[in-house]
Amino acid sequence: MIVLGIESSCDETAAAVVEGNCVRSDIIASQIDVHKVYGGVVPELASRNHIVNVAPVIETALSEAGVTLNELDGIVATSGPGLLGSLVIGLQAAKTIAWSTGLSFVGVNHLRGHLLAARIQDEDGTPVPEFPYMALLASGGHTGVYHVRNWNDIQCLGETRDDAAGEAFDKVAKLLGLGYPGGPVIDRMAGTPGEEVLFPQALRQKKSFEFSFSGVKTAVAQHVGHLDGPPTDEQMHAIVRGFQKAVVEILVRKVVLAARQKQVPRVVLAGGVAANSGLRQHAQMVCEENDLTLFAPPRKRCTDNASMIAYAGLLALEAGERSGFDISPKANWPL
Ligand code: KG4
Ligand code: ZN
Repeated sequence: MIVLGIESSCDETAAAVVEGNCVRSDIIASQIDVHKVYGGVVPELASRNHIVNVAPVIETALSEAGVTLNELDGIVATSGPGLLGSLVIGLQAAKTIAWSTGLSFVGVNHLRGHLLAARIQDEDGTPVPEFPYMALLASGGHTGVYHVRNWNDIQCLGETRDDAAGEAFDKVAKLLGLGYPGGPVIDRMAGTPGEEVLFPQALRQKKSFEFSFSGVKTAVAQHVGHLDGPPTDEQMHAIVRGFQKAVVEILVRKVVLAARQKQVPRVVLAGGVAANSGLRQHAQMVCEENDLTLFAPPRKRCTDNASMIAYAGLLALEAGERSGFDISPKANWPL
């Protein structure tokens, strides 16, 4: 099957063509420059920019894949969860193409896309995980541990009680004046060797798979408030290293605990925060210690992209799932 997928749940307008679990094209129009002056995503601006970008992104995805609409077996789009005004643009584009061409159409859950992204075969032949696996999904909007028994049999074992991990990265970066998005800049700074401030890891001793990241954000703010003046470069690096360590350690601890408890031999990283170098290194180390095999997809497939949506949609279409043209975008859509 060859499928065109469209993703527009937040601030990236993306389209991709996949054939089975291989990617034929993967196009993203990023809106980071639009939103960074505001220190976060402005929903109205995101929506307007999706309108401008969606048709050219689809055209480029088709031409780079070397296919026409007639050669596709189906078209899919993210239908939730996400920003309603953003989702509606990609979803409406997909419905319009499906209606005018007669192509099969299905709406895809964004979280399912993230959780299946590791199954996409990369050009370099890196092995992909078999089912079942234990996945850590950590993005700007969601953070949880998921038992992925099959592509359509996914159980959430625990989620964050408050902020998502990516949201914590973004908020801490904002309060430290490091710009938006916070993840990549904190990742770079934390990768330098040196001292680190010790920050709390909420729910560390709890056997549940829940997280809480609002406390560490407050702890960073309080630490900065108690300094004699604005943090020096050295102090700033020590804060950032300590913050990243606190977040990364708790994320890895919970997913590894879940894998051991459910006797699942594979751990998968997913979502934008899975692009974090510290997380990837620490997860590799702890998985090795626990005889677990870690699968960390390429960074471009951790952050929002359309190939994961196209792939998740392709599996649904292959299983005979179809959506009607009356489906609406959903701001909340738990798996
Ligand atoms: O999955 P994603 O692209 O979008 C959502 O579905 O939310 O995740 C975006 C989040 C942002 O909060 C961003 O700061 C974070 O992922 N992120 C990172 C890194 N790259 C992106 N966090 C930590 N380290 C990174 N290298
Ligand atoms: Zn996402």
